[in-house]
Amino acid sequence: MNFWREIPKPIIGLAPMDGVTDVSFRFITAKHGGPDVVFTEFVNIQSAFYSPHTLIKDFTYSEIERPVVAQIYGRAPELFYKVAHIVCELGFDGLDINMGCPSRKVAASGCGAALIRAPELAREIIRAARRGVEDW
Ligand SMILES: Cc1cc2nc3c(=O)[nH]c(=O)nc-3n(C[C@H](O)[C@H](O)[C@H](O)COP(=O)(O)O)c2cc1C
Repeated sequence: MNFWREIPKPIIGLAPMDGVTDVSFRFITAKHGGPDVVFTEFVNIQSAFYSPHTLIKDFTYSEIERPVVAQIYGRAPELFYKVAHIVCELGFDGLDINMGCPSRKVAASGCGAALIRAPELAREIIRAARRGVEDW
């Protein structure tokens, strides 16, 4: 099922915002604002894979947020594949790959908006994430 087809139009969504859309903000917004779709803050794939603490902190959500989408960023296709499994296992309704963050911290390491300069890698990342979801 593709939830984008099921939710009411025009869609009012809670955009992903680093340092803002954390677990409590998302819960309060879902409870009082009721957006049609909710995104987590972006989460680095290294942290998501190697640091369970980060994973629990950033990828905790409540049922009232659904549909809820996990946003991730990085530049290693094989980790996108593995983290896609984690996102599925945690029960998210979608996985969003950040390719837009221009902040120096993110783009200088070749992630986020920097991927526009590496279209081959961007394609590999998308394919790896998709495969991760399909193989799960
Ligand atoms: C503080 C802040 C943090 C953001 N963090 C993210 C992020 O983690 N991932 C992302 O895709 N966009 C991020 N964005 C971009 C927003 O999701 C949104 O696309 C942007 O603010 C434009 O939407 P607007 O025209 O409604 O303001 C961030 C924006 C702000 C202001």
